[in-house]
Amino acid sequence: MTKLLEVYKCEICGNIVELLHAGAGELVCCGQPMKLMAAKTEDQGKEKHVPVIEKTAKGILVKVGAVPHPMEDKHYIEWVAVEKDGKVLRAFLKPGDKPEAEFPVSADGGIAREYCSVHGLWSAGN
Ligand SMILES: [Fe+2]
Repeated sequence: MTKLLEVYKCEICGNIVELLHAGAGELVCCGQPMKLMAAKTEDQGKEKHVPVIEKTAKGILVKVGAVPHPMEDKHYIEWVAVEKDGKVLRAFLKPGDKPEAEFPVSADGGIAREYCSVHGLWSAGN
């Protein structure tokens, strides 16, 4: 059984999908089950991935991470998203961008997630 907003990846072609409606079936791509990407919440290596949320005049700034994550062609933050009050806001980033995104939501509560092209899905918040 899938869950709302789970992220799945095809390990053959690289397709990544986010679930918008949970169902009983298994997600399949390129002839095999897609891999559920579990969000990591604690940094381990030298690169920092856990989103850091800062309050701004317009809302919140989500930075990846405590030390800015690389934004290179083959290793970068693909997107940053905030889930709050039944809404999802997402900013897609590209190599060379700053590893951060600002969202017009209040700073209390909510979950910030980001996806690294090499290290997968990460989250912070409640
Ligand atoms: Fe990374």
